[in-house]
Amino acid sequence: MKFFIDSANVKEIKQAQELGILAGVTTNPSLVAKEGADFHERLREITSFVNESVSAEVVATDAQGMIEEGKALAAIAPNITVKVPMGLEGLKAVRTFSEAGIKTNVTLIFSANQALLAARAGAAYVSPFIGRLDDIGHNGIELIGTIAEMFEIHEIDTQIISASIRHPQHVTDSALQGAHIATVPWKVLEQLAKHPLTDIGLEKFLSDWQKSQAHK
Ligand code: E4P
Repeated sequence: MKFFIDSANVKEIKQAQELGILAGVTTNPSLVAKEGADFHERLREITSFVNESVSAEVVATDAQGMIEEGKALAAIAPNITVKVPMGLEGLKAVRTFSEAGIKTNVTLIFSANQALLAARAGAAYVSPFIGRLDDIGHNGIELIGTIAEMFEIHEIDTQIISASIRHPQHVTDSALQGAHIATVPWKVLEQLAKHPLTDIGLEKFLSDWQKSQAHK
């Protein structure tokens, strides 16, 4: 499983990139709004230093509007993936993008059937939102496993992005359930690298080292 960062914050994206694990970026209208930046301007900035997939979401609600917006987003950089919300209009737009050779990430996926439809419409990626399913008492991780199994049986090459990740256990479980990618907020990426026994162990190594130096 690869790592994307779920962020529109340049500092966070650069920090993740420095770790050497970054395979892409996902943004959404809420993340961009939080930054208070001009959408296209921010995407230009991100794609100036990220060469991998950068998902940028359309906000139109009809297929024609999505297609126009998506084409303008795709023109920003060749690595822009147009993020399209799941739904009947979204599916029509995905088919058009797919025929035009523009990659799409179908977002707001909450069921296996939605993922199957998106894949058949030609989506490069589907994004099941596991945290939001957990929030309403469903099992988000189970959905990842179901989609992965379905795609394997039918030899579908659409990639599953495990999205709406809230904590490190979501990451482990996504990997075990067959997600190809997890898009992870910076806060969770930081948590992944940490363990209290690592901190205690390092402290002990350093203090033992200091003691041995004092005896010289
Ligand atoms: C994914 O592409 C979405 O941007 C994101 O994971 C949504 O997460 P949230 O439920 O924390 O808003």
